[in-house]
Amino acid sequence: MKILDNLEEIKQLDRQDMLGVEEDFYNQLKEAARIAGDANIDSIKGAGFCGLAILGMGGSGFTGDIIKNLIKDSVQIPVEVVKSYELPAFIKKGWLAVAVSYSGNTEETIAAVNEAMLRGCEVLAVSAGGEIKKIARRHNKCHVGLPQGYQPRGAAGYLFFTTLLILKKAQIAAIKSDDIQETLELINQKKAMYLRDVNTGNNPAKQLAVHMYGRLPVIYGVCGYLSAVAYRWKCEINENAKCPAFWAEFPELNHNETVGWQNLADISEKMILIVLKDSSFSKKLIVRQEITANLIRQSFADVLEIEAEGKSVLAKAASVMYLGDIASVYLALLYNTDPTPVDRILALKAELAKLG
Ligand code: F6R
Repeated sequence: MKILDNLEEIKQLDRQDMLGVEEDFYNQLKEAARIAGDANIDSIKGAGFCGLAILGMGGSGFTGDIIKNLIKDSVQIPVEVVKSYELPAFIKKGWLAVAVSYSGNTEETIAAVNEAMLRGCEVLAVSAGGEIKKIARRHNKCHVGLPQGYQPRGAAGYLFFTTLLILKKAQIAAIKSDDIQETLELINQKKAMYLRDVNTGNNPAKQLAVHMYGRLPVIYGVCGYLSAVAYRWKCEINENAKCPAFWAEFPELNHNETVGWQNLADISEKMILIVLKDSSFSKKLIVRQEITANLIRQSFADVLEIEAEGKSVLAKAASVMYLGDIASVYLALLYNTDPTPVDRILALKAELAKLG
């Protein structure tokens, strides 16, 4: 566990500085606000769309998951997240398709945005370049450019915050300026606690990584923003720490997974259950989480409960996400693993590209 407090060892292992990228989340959010503010979005502003489709995969796909949940209580049109090559039949003329791909070269997102244009949808493209940018330019569609040089998952602040603030500017998403301010302040506060030079004894992100080390994390979210964040934690643990992780959401998990911990105890006793919580949820949900944790506690090596901090849903979502993101990098370091490379994803994409 000593590596977490050894800055020289961290530097040697984390060769492309994924930890620095995650530590810098606050600046990404601030910069995203500037990018959204400067963007010319005349083609989509106030257009009165009848639906919103957010297209994207993996680290970019999180943008759709989180935005859908952040705006679901105020948005007056259906919002569909598409994580595949194909669009559902109901996405057609009158919809806005938002294609989010950090590289701009993800084939599922390219196929989906091409299909959206064939159907007469308006398009907003968000990428750091690549084919998606070329497609947008070729068809006179709005493209918002992000800074280059990141792993897509490491650019999550740019991806989701820029897209969210563009949707606010286009009068599609109702996000309060106070909530944006609260989010920035909270993330800046958290940054001071999670940085590498805060030692493990005082650093909740390092402590979380220590808890997860040697155990298979199972993350329980709650239908809504904590579901998107639970899935993000799982993906970050997979891609940064290169270890398995699983997730599920309340209340659905109470109708299946709750009984699924009865057998194979020799496997589950090497797992850690992490329950994401929000004290503003209904009493029913809170009690449900307590009862469930008590019913299945014995099956796990450890159970952790993480309470979302902040007032607004945006601040809560960003702060729980930030904790998981940065802890997944500390977990990679504990496994003596360079967090940045995702060789198997690249190998798969290269093989698929050969098919044309
Ligand atoms: C890699 C990562 C992946 C990518 C995904 C889609 O860091 O996070 O999950 O996000 O392969 O690629 P992009 O985001 O470039 O469309």
